[in-house]
Amino acid sequence: MASHVASLRGWHPALARAEVSALLPHAKLIRLASRRLVRLEGDISPSQMQATVERASGCQALLCHAVVWEHEVDTSAFIEQMQTYLEAYPRTGSVAVRAMKHEGKMAGVSSRELARKIGGMLSSQGYSIDLESPVHRLGMVLDASAGIIACGWMVGSGDDSDGITSRRATDRPFFKPVSLDPRLARLAVNVASGPHDKGATLDLMTGTGGFVLEAALSGRETYGVDLDPLMIEGAQKNLDWAMPNSEAKLLLGDATQLLDVLPLHAHNRICGFVLDPPYGRNSHGSLDHADLIRSVLQSARMVAAPDADLVLILPMHPFGEHPDEALKVDASVELLHGQWHEIESTFVETGWRINQRWVEHVHASLGRLILHATIVPQD
Ligand SMILES: C[S@@+](CC[C@H](N)C(=O)[O-])C[C@H]1O[C@@H](n2cnc3c(N)ncnc32)[C@H](O)[C@@H]1O
Repeated sequence: MASHVASLRGWHPALARAEVSALLPHAKLIRLASRRLVRLEGDISPSQMQATVERASGCQALLCHAVVWEHEVDTSAFIEQMQTYLEAYPRTGSVAVRAMKHEGKMAGVSSRELARKIGGMLSSQGYSIDLESPVHRLGMVLDASAGIIACGWMVGSGDDSDGITSRRATDRPFFKPVSLDPRLARLAVNVASGPHDKGATLDLMTGTGGFVLEAALSGRETYGVDLDPLMIEGAQKNLDWAMPNSEAKLLLGDATQLLDVLPLHAHNRICGFVLDPPYGRNSHGSLDHADLIRSVLQSARMVAAPDADLVLILPMHPFGEHPDEALKVDASVELLHGQWHEIESTFVETGWRINQRWVEHVHASLGRLILHATIVPQD
């Protein structure tokens, strides 16, 4: 069975793992000792790899059939393995080696020296080296946290920056303090919706359009709903700015009444729901926080595809730096609004199963709970 390595960005590796897993549902994820490297086992086509890296927020590259070297005293065994690798997986066209360092400098190992040796090997095998615009890049990650080197033909840029600086929320024509950071919005859309061609994505409470923009930019059939006409108008401006001619649909209406709001052809076809609810009393003024979430979850079920998933984001009291792991199943968290146990039972009662929860550290007085749930089939 094929075995590849995903190289994750450093922002939130635990969320990035969940994202890769959602985008490649048929791959088995195996943790390596390092924070940011995971092995992916399964038959993944080159086009699935490309689609994953292009859309992911938290994955900087996939290394095809990667050689993984761990804890050896010297690196000569690694160089020998690379020789065998290059013979087993030849490529046509110019090449370059791209070295990436995770978690600082690896003691006793020079990335430049390794890249030079591998470059020499490529030359002696007849490859032409083109450092500016090679047809293929051989990605080599040196992970100092675990003393691991992973190397293989690379899909993706390998950039640590996730390309979102070109579309910061504050640069959009319509910005509000509630606007979600595109990095988190993209990740949530991916975790909720899975591969881009699985089905449609619905942002249940669109606001300025944080999720809608990311879903549309990643080529998904996209819907956004908001009660407030000013938000719908502003989100449309943001969408036109980020993606002129997008087919995403912004709908004025109540997320607790989705059967009335969504066009008929979208009913039972929403496979990814994303929800960033308002705080305190909602614009209805009639439902409290947990009741609003309950009504929205019930309503979402009525338009959901049979295998739908949902990601909910809630503000919480800070938890310290976010851990590299999902929260333990029974971990309690202190939400800024309402009680965790109320939210938990709301999911159970409305037919959603909570899969995993993560915490994001925002600043000294704010954290975020990110929750992933899956629809429970009805009897
Ligand atoms: C926290 S904001 C969403 C922010 C958004 N994620 C962004 O990036 O801008 C919550 C939104 O929910 C909307 N809202 C409140 N109650 C609603 C309901 N019942 N149905 C639909 N939208 C609702 C509010 O108008 C507000 O725009």
